[in-house]
Amino acid sequence: MVNEVAKLTLPGKETLELPIIKGTLGPDVIDIGMLSKAEMFTFDPGFRSTASCESKITFIDGNKGLLLHRGYPIEQLAEHSDFLEVCYLLLFGELPNTVQKVEFEKKVKNHTLIHEQLIRFYSGFRRDAHPMAIMCGVVGALSAFYHDSLDIHNEEHREMASFRLIAKMPTLAAMSYKYSVGQPFVSPLNRMSYAENFLHMMFSVPSEEMIPNPILVKAMDRIFILHADHEQNASTSTVRLAGSSGANPFACIAAGIAALWGPAHGGANEAVLAMLQEIGDVSNIPKFIEKAKDKNDPFRLMGFGHRVYKNFDPRATVMRKSCYEVLDELGLHDDPLFAIALKLEEIALKDPYFIEKKLYPNVDFYSGIILRAIGIPTNMFTVIFAMARTVGWIAHWNEMISSPDLSINRPRQLYTGSTMRDFTPMDKRK
Ligand code: SDX
Repeated sequence: MVNEVAKLTLPGKETLELPIIKGTLGPDVIDIGMLSKAEMFTFDPGFRSTASCESKITFIDGNKGLLLHRGYPIEQLAEHSDFLEVCYLLLFGELPNTVQKVEFEKKVKNHTLIHEQLIRFYSGFRRDAHPMAIMCGVVGALSAFYHDSLDIHNEEHREMASFRLIAKMPTLAAMSYKYSVGQPFVSPLNRMSYAENFLHMMFSVPSEEMIPNPILVKAMDRIFILHADHEQNASTSTVRLAGSSGANPFACIAAGIAALWGPAHGGANEAVLAMLQEIGDVSNIPKFIEKAKDKNDPFRLMGFGHRVYKNFDPRATVMRKSCYEVLDELGLHDDPLFAIALKLEEIALKDPYFIEKKLYPNVDFYSGIILRAIGIPTNMFTVIFAMARTVGWIAHWNEMISSPDLSINRPRQLYTGSTMRDFTPMDKRK
């Protein structure tokens, strides 16, 4: 809704009146589209002050520590909902009624199996390949198998691709783990819930079927909910940018997986565990906090800080509660890494550096402790983040592709390279 303007006076040019647009929540935005007429661009490396799109899916208030999915607070969804219900909410905008929920779960479960030819891709990887490397490969390869759902302008094709991706990610992920430990792949069992089926595919073996512990299933489902979507984060923006060129959804999600892998983003949960293990003992915490504050030391406290949250990440609060439940259930309440994490959080949050820079624990700080307690290897942590975030990526992709003003995303730049010059023959070069 446009009702005010920002006046921009440029040297030697007429004053521009830039429309100010109000959303339903959050800061107003200034529509700078007409700046190109004035042959000027805005300059905002890292997009710290840039809204890249309009969206109705998720809203974050970083100062209040608020996270809403289609208006519902994450704490309430984590408490009362389940992951597939949150998938429906993110994709379609409303919580499903009983019939819609049953229908949706049935449609997703119809697509949990993997094409037998795609299974062969795994044998091409080394056994010690990082599971995220495998996921980048096999998810992109899905494009080669589903020619019947690649017309991005066909709503049914988009919906089919969405169901296939949500359904197949746990199967592909569990397969990447089984391959790394040399165990046979375990087929999905559709009589199980989403999280239960994932744990079953991870830890069952032909000789001993494993029935997942319901407390661990609930914790796994909650981890999926907490990682489902998060506005225009780096990987979601990557999916939108790839999708804006018309690339097929499987290729776009593979691009999102690649972007998520970085330790500054989804790779942080794996890095948090490595950091806690490196700290090793509560007595070493002050040394590491000093390292994190030292500008000459590249070390950062993994699991702390966030581009948007300048208050507690509400997901970290829910995750901490889940940690207690899981560790108590498993009799691991004196887990040394959890003790280090709790002490690190306590000390860091009292330190003036962290207070001044508003660095709080984020979603990745506690998730690794739960995953490790469940028995999931550290190198699978980001894979689990990717599994959960797939629904967020695909919801944003659908929102963008179905919007009437879809156009290829093409940022401009500030050029500071050489001005034009003639070719230098070899004998004239230094
Ligand atoms: C996720 O965008 C999303 O929504 C992401 C995510 C999602 O759900 O998609 O929430 C998931 O990626 C969570 C973040 C996981 N990453 C980590 O835990 C890695 C450690 N955190 C940092 O790398 C950092 O905090 C970022 C990348 C998360 C945020 O970086 P910003 O916003 O660009 O902040 P910054 O780098 O500008 O830091 C501001 C200041 C700097 O000091 P000054 O230059 O002002 O002196 O805070 C310092 C930084 O040095 N700082 C830290 C720190 N994080 C920031 N110092 C020590 N330890 C840290 N973790």
